[in-house]
Amino acid sequence: MQTDKTPPNMKILHLEDSLVDHELTVRALQKTGVPCDVLRVESLEDFQSKVREVNFDIILADYHLPGFTALDAWDLLQHEPAPPPFILLSGAIGEPAAVTAIKIGVSDYLSKDELPKLAQIIRRAIELHAIRRARVKSDHDLALSEKRLADFAEHLQFTIENERAAIAREIHDDVGGSLAAAKFDLAWIERHSSNPEVTEHVKAASDMVQHALEASQRIMMNLRPAILDQGLVAAVQWLAHDFTKRTGIKIAMQTDHAKADLPKDVLLAAYRTAQEALTNISKHARCDVVTIEISDVQQFLTLEIKDNGPGLMPIDLNKPNSFGLKGLHERAKSVGGWLDVSSRPGKGTSIVLSVPLDTAQSQTNQEVN
Ligand SMILES: Nc1ncnc2c1ncn2[C@@H]1O[C@H](COP(=O)(O)OP(=O)(O)OP(=O)(O)O)[C@@H](O)[C@H]1O
Ligand SMILES: [Mg+2]
Repeated sequence: MQTDKTPPNMKILHLEDSLVDHELTVRALQKTGVPCDVLRVESLEDFQSKVREVNFDIILADYHLPGFTALDAWDLLQHEPAPPPFILLSGAIGEPAAVTAIKIGVSDYLSKDELPKLAQIIRRAIELHAIRRARVKSDHDLALSEKRLADFAEHLQFTIENERAAIAREIHDDVGGSLAAAKFDLAWIERHSSNPEVTEHVKAASDMVQHALEASQRIMMNLRPAILDQGLVAAVQWLAHDFTKRTGIKIAMQTDHAKADLPKDVLLAAYRTAQEALTNISKHARCDVVTIEISDVQQFLTLEIKDNGPGLMPIDLNKPNSFGLKGLHERAKSVGGWLDVSSRPGKGTSIVLSVPLDTAQSQTNQEVN
């Protein structure tokens, strides 16, 4: 009688056309003392229906059966969601057949002359099968969590871009509008005042307002450059110009067939890649030559930003508080592309964004303003 603590009998499916061989197998199993229920089938149809009906712990299969072989049963088994381990228990089948069987993933092969070894072979097959299943499950879980992370990063980027666009709009409408009105009024006061002291103060105030206007325009450009509407080349040229103004480092730019009508999300991904790469150069690379190449020949956008600075080490890419390049990898993936960072110490750094344009998901339902 089974108590709660008794493990359930091992369920074994035996694909075997010889009743004698089946009984010999059952007897060999009984001798080992492992409690098991062994069910015999001899046709492919019965094999398939039993496999679907019962959760077997293991399948033992003779190789040559009337009209089919164990490999046909194996093929059927591969269509099941969680097939159990499968052991060939057969007369001589020849080395080539045994090798083929093991190559396609059959758990093990045992000759019918070696029945005393059966229990040991079954135990090993079950253990290996469990390890394999656990690995498949953990690979699957990992892929799932990577996908979730990528979705989250994409969503985050989309939210950030929208926020940036909204802030840029507010600066333009509220701050920019008010400053322009203040400048206009100050000019009016200056024109209508004959008091030199007042004129002097008004002039100082006008300069301040002008300064604030320029600052707000600069902030707007960084948040969501209007020049993006003129295409990638124009926007990157603007970035390059601003970079040279700040750092004194000249940029050589080369473009090949770069068209204006890239999908919005690809355009933004490429622009942010150039922006981060140039920021990195100004922060980390003491260099005097920077080149940018943009090309979209044969439905393939590539953007390369290269410097002749000190280069970086693989460990730099895993700095815990550095997110620039990690973010660019995610951004590239979100538009169906990828990012290559190549560098050698003393030989500069090259960042390449590649996006196949035919598969790039153009942003139709997630329109960034
Ligand atoms: N052009 C470059 N030349 C030399 N080192 C670089 C270059 N670009 C990146 N690095 C190195 O790679 C590291 C990672 O860069 P990443 O852009 O991911 O982060 P970060 O610039 O340090 O910080 P942030 O999160 O603000 O971008 C940098 O800290 C730097 O050491
Ligand atoms: Mg950075």
